[in-house]
Amino acid sequence: MNQIKPLSEYQPVIIRLEDVEKIYGSGNTTVHALDKVNLVIHQGEYCSIMGASGSGKSTVMNIIGCLDRPTAGRYYLDKVDVSGLSDEELASIRNRKIGFVFQQFHLLPQMSALENVMLPMVYAGIELSERRDRAREALIKVGLENRLNNKPNQLSGGQQQRVAIARAIVNRPLLLLADEPTGALDSKTTGEVLNIFGELHNSGITVIMVTHEPEVARQTERIIWFRDGQVIYPHLTPQEMLEVAVIS
Ligand SMILES: Nc1ncnc2c1ncn2[C@@H]1O[C@H](COP(=O)(O)OP(=O)(O)OP(=O)(O)O)[C@@H](O)[C@H]1O
Ligand SMILES: [Mg+2]
Repeated sequence: MNQIKPLSEYQPVIIRLEDVEKIYGSGNTTVHALDKVNLVIHQGEYCSIMGASGSGKSTVMNIIGCLDRPTAGRYYLDKVDVSGLSDEELASIRNRKIGFVFQQFHLLPQMSALENVMLPMVYAGIELSERRDRAREALIKVGLENRLNNKPNQLSGGQQQRVAIARAIVNRPLLLLADEPTGALDSKTTGEVLNIFGELHNSGITVIMVTHEPEVARQTERIIWFRDGQVIYPHLTPQEMLEVAVIS
């Protein structure tokens, strides 16, 4: 009998982690945050990363996002081995290929929504008029066309997170990474943010999100489960995840 593969597995591999380890500290304060992690993610996948607090979820996201390097092992991003690159090289890859969304938004308080979203394009060397047009377009995409000139403290939590999403997608990344993006939001706003992620996934962006909430993870297609720095379930369906969440 032919084994039917998920459609995503016919797409190119965008992330490949091989025996990735991350060790923090030294001597008797050593923490083995990642312990031989192997993981393959294809272009266009929509994944959640779940697992108990301290299991290594943020650590692996920081490595996938080129914010940090593995202590040992290899990381291939879009077929390039990025495990040994310099800080400058990692920063350049990050700027071109990756968008980030965090639980605490991390918007600059003195800047308007539009200016916050224009910022990543400054580093990418795009000229002012195009920066403004593209930032406006990204904010329209997340439903904030009426809030372009508001500063973060004049926006609700959900609106601030949508500004952060617009900022993350404005350089048209291959990969959108979100570490507990709905952790500070109520359930209605969580739904709005997930709708945007769903649309981005439908437009072809690879989306990877860390979450503690089964209701959030079940909106994605694949759940990767961590325990003690290891991937114990690399490929759960939403239904299987609900069963694992009950016993974990
Ligand atoms: N900079 C650091 N220095 C030392 N230890 C660290 C550092 N960052 C993380 N750790 C440790 O590494 C382990 C994994 O941490 P990580 O932040 O990846 O967990 P997590 O799964 O994201 O947890 P949470 O759900 O609470 O966010 C933990 O034991 C943590 O204490
Ligand atoms: Mg974390």
